[in-house]
Amino acid sequence: MIRHLNHYSRAETKLVSFRFVGPRWFGHKPLAKHVALTLYFDFAARTIHGSALLTLPAAHTGPLLLDTRSLVIHSVLDPHTNAPIPFSFPSDPTPDPVLGQPLSLSLSAQSAALVVFSTSPSSSALQWLSPAQTASKAHPFVYTQCQSIHARSLFPCQDTPAARLVFSARLNLPHPLTAVMAAARAAAPRDPVPGEVGSACPDALWCAPGRSVEEFIMDRPIPPYLFAFAAGDIAARDVGLRTSVHAEGGAALLDAAAREFAGAEEMIRAGEALFGPYEWGRFDLLVLPPSFPYGGMENPMMVFLTPTVIKGDASGAQVVAHELAHSWTGNLITNKTNEHFWLNEGFTTYAERRIVEVVQGEETAALNMGIGWRGLNDEMERFKDNMEFTKLKPNLEGIDPDEIYSQVPYEKGFQFLWRIERQVGRPTFDEFLKKYIAKFKFQSIDTETFLEFLKENLPGIENQIDLKQWVEGTGIPPDAMEPVSSIYSKIVSLSNEFKLGKIPKEQEVANWSGQEWELYIENLPKSVEPSQIAALDAHYQLSESRDYEVKVAFLQLAISSGCKEYFGEVERTLKQVGRMKYLRPLYTALVQRGAEEAKMSARRIFAEARDTYHPIAQGVVESILAKHS
Ligand code: BES
Ligand code: ZN
Repeated sequence: MIRHLNHYSRAETKLVSFRFVGPRWFGHKPLAKHVALTLYFDFAARTIHGSALLTLPAAHTGPLLLDTRSLVIHSVLDPHTNAPIPFSFPSDPTPDPVLGQPLSLSLSAQSAALVVFSTSPSSSALQWLSPAQTASKAHPFVYTQCQSIHARSLFPCQDTPAARLVFSARLNLPHPLTAVMAAARAAAPRDPVPGEVGSACPDALWCAPGRSVEEFIMDRPIPPYLFAFAAGDIAARDVGLRTSVHAEGGAALLDAAAREFAGAEEMIRAGEALFGPYEWGRFDLLVLPPSFPYGGMENPMMVFLTPTVIKGDASGAQVVAHELAHSWTGNLITNKTNEHFWLNEGFTTYAERRIVEVVQGEETAALNMGIGWRGLNDEMERFKDNMEFTKLKPNLEGIDPDEIYSQVPYEKGFQFLWRIERQVGRPTFDEFLKKYIAKFKFQSIDTETFLEFLKENLPGIENQIDLKQWVEGTGIPPDAMEPVSSIYSKIVSLSNEFKLGKIPKEQEVANWSGQEWELYIENLPKSVEPSQIAALDAHYQLSESRDYEVKVAFLQLAISSGCKEYFGEVERTLKQVGRMKYLRPLYTALVQRGAEEAKMSARRIFAEARDTYHPIAQGVVESILAKHS
């Protein structure tokens, strides 16, 4: 899906072009530094009525550009005088589906503007769940997912990671629902106060019987993609000094989650020893309903997680380690635009594996690296006709970030940093990392800034490593490295023996957990004899694994190998979970098979399951189906 856009933020695009029109605008971005949100939740209408009070660092005369998508704009007011602020909001009947519609305010010596708006049921940052779609079956639920550019469908903002801002928020909810936010709680839930709502909605709605107000504050500047809340029948359990786990779904789920994540505090300490102080105060975890489209999302102070990470064997630790690692690499230092996304995910993948190494040992870290190495190699195949996307720093002009999401920024980024570590030695690299984080924290930077800092602090590195090839080149550089470990090598060699018809013996897999099986399956040929698939499954019941990584890897292989008897299990899986990591390979395998029957069931399953998926996941599956129609 190629579109004519330069950056993901209209605000940015416009500002960049202004640079060429007149020097008056050069380097002068009027970026909002603070937003105060007032949000009234109407669950029946799947709508939020709200106001956003945006504050600039200084009075400004001229346009202030904001991103919006699927928002209705009711009015724009000067918060001091309540006088209207002129604005233009083209009511384009076919707005850009990715970028949305720019809202341009016309300020005259003003430093603040109050935008009154409503979301719409199709706002892509929000998933509204009916009671039937929740675990309790009794109450509705709503949650946000703003990365990469969905914050604009929640409130008008400058939706680029370059525009950090602090915020406060007041949420008005119906009893007995409660809210959590990736922010600090500013006050205990309370009754609404007449007159406090301002223009966000009528006072009669705000103060209606059975409504309560919750207040939050985020006083560290965050990029808009880290804005997050959830509301529903949510309860919590303490798991550590700075950690509690929150979830909708009752005591049993909370207990299981608390057990699964018992090691959180140990991980935070490992992270602090490696990367410097944990800057965010609390590190809470929110377990979402199964339709959550990611494994985890690093929302500050409260990481969002798929329930599929709770497997009862503490293996969810890897996802938690990853999201925790973002507290340093990503949330403290953020990519300035999505082309530098590897600065977020590559660094975080590296940091995640360092934490895993401390808390779970070198062999587990090597397994994770091995799964990543396989993933990186598979992406080379996926992008063989579009090598641009195998670059660490790709050109993403006109590209929807959700559609091009891949392992490349994660695993090539990891490989790049690991290569530097091997060159300079671990102690030197560790010192470098700490210094890098301390220097750029709370900033949004680009690859060039990183490279400059690298050359300055590790002099001569550019003569030892081909930095240009790593950053600008396509494919996997020759000095990338497959991990070395005895378990890893054993598994890969067992995968290779499968081609000769050998199925691993019971004693060979006796100690295997999910990750070992995942690595084993992913290293098998992409398509094998159906009889071999059946034999493997008869032995080890992989299609029924409680571990979705294992189950999905197996089902993907089964479909690609033409085993129709697994269609039923595939359908059940596609209707149970909405994590895109599972939807993508399963739908892709179904439509790629070429068999009309498989394609038809993909379309039917999607038609039936669509409403249970998050809007982002709906879009991704739609585009997979469209590519093979
Ligand atoms: N920040 C990402 C999730 C994301 C990326 C959301 C891009 C939207 C756009 C998160 O940190 C992540 O990488 N999650 C992984 C976890 C894994 C690498 C352990 C996931 O969801 O699979
Ligand atoms: Zn990540």
